[in-house]
Amino acid sequence: MRDSPPQTVYLKDYTPPAWLVEDVHLTFRLAAKTTRVISRIRFAPNPDRVDQTFFLHGEDLVLISSHIDGVAVTPKITAEGLSCDVPDGPFIWEAEVEISPATNTALEGLYMSGGMYCTQCEAEGFRKITYYPDRPDVMAPFTVRIESDLPVMLSNGNPVAKGEGWAEWHDPWKKPSYLFALVAGDLVNHPDSFTTMSGRDVELNIWVRPGDLHKCAFGMEALKKSMKWDEDVYGREYDLDIFNIVAVDDFNMGAMENKGLNIFNSSAVLASPETSTDANFERIEAIIAHEYFHNWTGNRITCRDWFQLCLKEGLTVYRDSQFTSDMRSAPVKRISDVIDLRARQFPEDQGPLSHPVRPESFQEINNFYTATVYEKGAEVIGMLKRLVGDEAYAQALDLYFERHDGDAATIEDWLQVFEDATGRDLTQFKRWYTQSGTPRLKVTEDWTSADDASRPPSRDLAASPEAPDQVRGGDTPGGTYTLTFEQHTPGTSGQTEKAPQVLPIAVGLLGPNGDEITPTTLLEMTQAKQSFVFTGLSARPIPSILREFSAPVVLERETSADERAFLLAHDTDPFNRWEAGRQLARDGLIAMIRNGSPADDRWLEGMSRVVRDDTADPAFRALMLSLPADSELAQVLHEQGTTPDPDTIWQARETLTQQLADTLQDALPRLHAEMTVEGAYSPDAGPAGRRALAGKLLGLTTRLDGGAQAARQYTSADNMTLQLTALACLIRSGRGEDALAAFYNRWKDDRLVIDKWFMLQIAEADPARAADVAKTLTEHPDFDLKNPNRFRATMGALAMNHAGFHRADGEGYALLADWLIRLDALNPQTTARMCSVFQAWRRYDAGRQALMQRNLERIAAKSDLSRDTAEMVGRILG
Ligand code: BES
Ligand code: ZN
Repeated sequence: MRDSPPQTVYLKDYTPPAWLVEDVHLTFRLAAKTTRVISRIRFAPNPDRVDQTFFLHGEDLVLISSHIDGVAVTPKITAEGLSCDVPDGPFIWEAEVEISPATNTALEGLYMSGGMYCTQCEAEGFRKITYYPDRPDVMAPFTVRIESDLPVMLSNGNPVAKGEGWAEWHDPWKKPSYLFALVAGDLVNHPDSFTTMSGRDVELNIWVRPGDLHKCAFGMEALKKSMKWDEDVYGREYDLDIFNIVAVDDFNMGAMENKGLNIFNSSAVLASPETSTDANFERIEAIIAHEYFHNWTGNRITCRDWFQLCLKEGLTVYRDSQFTSDMRSAPVKRISDVIDLRARQFPEDQGPLSHPVRPESFQEINNFYTATVYEKGAEVIGMLKRLVGDEAYAQALDLYFERHDGDAATIEDWLQVFEDATGRDLTQFKRWYTQSGTPRLKVTEDWTSADDASRPPSRDLAASPEAPDQVRGGDTPGGTYTLTFEQHTPGTSGQTEKAPQVLPIAVGLLGPNGDEITPTTLLEMTQAKQSFVFTGLSARPIPSILREFSAPVVLERETSADERAFLLAHDTDPFNRWEAGRQLARDGLIAMIRNGSPADDRWLEGMSRVVRDDTADPAFRALMLSLPADSELAQVLHEQGTTPDPDTIWQARETLTQQLADTLQDALPRLHAEMTVEGAYSPDAGPAGRRALAGKLLGLTTRLDGGAQAARQYTSADNMTLQLTALACLIRSGRGEDALAAFYNRWKDDRLVIDKWFMLQIAEADPARAADVAKTLTEHPDFDLKNPNRFRATMGALAMNHAGFHRADGEGYALLADWLIRLDALNPQTTARMCSVFQAWRRYDAGRQALMQRNLERIAAKSDLSRDTAEMVGRILG
């Protein structure tokens, strides 16, 4: 595909652009295979330039003509772009190129989806549309004219004029090319409006294909809530007369924040009670908020270069999580985020793909839209806020918006704003952006009762190089409790030496009767080893450490199962209450797997108490009942020096879940009935939480009644959440066949529902059969390699079925590799992302390792392998 060898780009090599763009005029003459793009760009020398080279990015373009100040020129063209001799001062560049949207299967640049023209330019897709300095630090206002027979033609900014077969748009805000967007199609809109805090009326639209109009109302409400929330919480107002959202079926990611014209994967915006689950509704609300919030954190203030990606993504994920916490339940959101962080970011940070939140080099930037940049990037902002406090955080953000509006900024700019607003030195904190790997935090404790206070301090404490920090109590008489923390980050790929990081550790202390004796206190750890002393205590406390998961670390503490059961019953911090239950379950499962131990009664007892606790939010109870994923258990076993066996792990989870069902047997019917939601469907957190708990309970009941109740629920369900939960139970109990056939017939015309049909059969299949089920489904007429949603529903689901994917004979690996090889020629970005399911290959036994290695090498050996996939496979193989 490309004639040059892959090149590595380094952060340290950044130089400012030689030429800046004053404004851009684009004309699109749309035609499926022969679209003409005519550009008129005013360039001016950058006063900060270090060289004068005039280079424009451009890929897969046919140059028809090019002029400088009206005179035809003949630029030097390569696979990456063109260069040309130019005047010393400002000049006008004009070019006409031809591109072929209909054959663009990479879904990057201008492409077609279901008869509609659409674009995806982040990160480097604009260069597939026309020649341009396609880098985020070149910002300009755009005027766009679209010519086409299609009824709806949209671009960024405000509409300025339209006529028969054409439309013109103008975006007054200067922006980088990655935020450019164009849509043209036979679309209909769901309109609404919003009045901003300063009283301006904004026209809102969600544009969809005619058959999808009934699925727009929820997204529109989410948009209005997001606009209001950003005004209330961050003081940020929308800045154009119109905000358009478009749903497209073929899209590599979830959604894209193009200025004034957000483009969404249909799965991330379309929703109706009959076709979407509670989880879909929640995700849609969050993604709409996320893309909308980018208008300030990403668009008004953008990134200087792609190494700064976390500047917009980490911050915007943090903002959307705050929004979800405010709209729904904060503890439930926090627990879900930590489950996700541990499932996706921790393995990344501890494996061959490990990289800092701000990477220092890349070959293909599309491979760095990672859980580390996004989710760890958001955690870093959460820590910063915790350390400086809510008020200082708000002041720092005001300063950020004031100082950097219109800029392409860096992480240094971001941290400077916090230093200036708070007077704090953030030099050490910056390591969170530059150092990769997950810190491990070891905790030991020391108790000196009032009676033996005259004794010398314990050895552990004396070993601490620093005087311990005094936390509470001062000179009050009583016992002294000391917590000593040691942090250590194991070396990661490309980074062997690690320095201590700033860790905000939220701690509370409970008395022996379960009362909280010291409320949440923030300990600020900066050393490799550090002690904190609590004085004036009447009895030895039970500590609740890392409340709200105040830092993204692995906590290592020898804790008895009794103590965990105690915290599960008494902790006032919902996160740590959940965490105690999760650790009990995890340790119990590990003992079952390693030693064939029986299930831990304390977990079973804890669960039967939690599940009946009507004072607890049902959504929280549902989270308590869920066991750690097989892949998480594999990771823990590996850390403990045991080679994980996927079949044994699966068996242990099955056994424990069956025992939970047996333990709760008597309570299940009553509890399930209590959780039944009457009346019209609402996706709000309250009813959704009840359905989540009811769903867990139905799963347990199915183990006892062979699926009778699930079958009844499947038939009577009037919403997708109930229907899909019942279908999953039926599949798991081996009685899914009829329901699956009925489901297909009922929903065969709805792509998003058929994605669920593909996904569920594979994800819920018995591991021995998962690869075969997936293989059969790739032969189904509805399997569509070119549609990323359908591909992920099939191959992503296989990878999610841990024991199924890791079947000892390697069938899972081979099937996935076969399809990745095929997809790479069409869609490098989606192929490369999915390669990461092989990232933990070195964790497994020699047989599986060899099989995974062989399949990775098979992918690597494919001729014309894309730069995206080549980089991923190369890094994974090491
Ligand atoms: N800017 C991204 C979309 C994007 C990602 C474009 C990668 C090009 C390459 C967008 O804001 C985003 O982050 N979308 C997420 C969803 C979000 C809720 C985290 C996505 O698409 O998954
Ligand atoms: Zn984003």
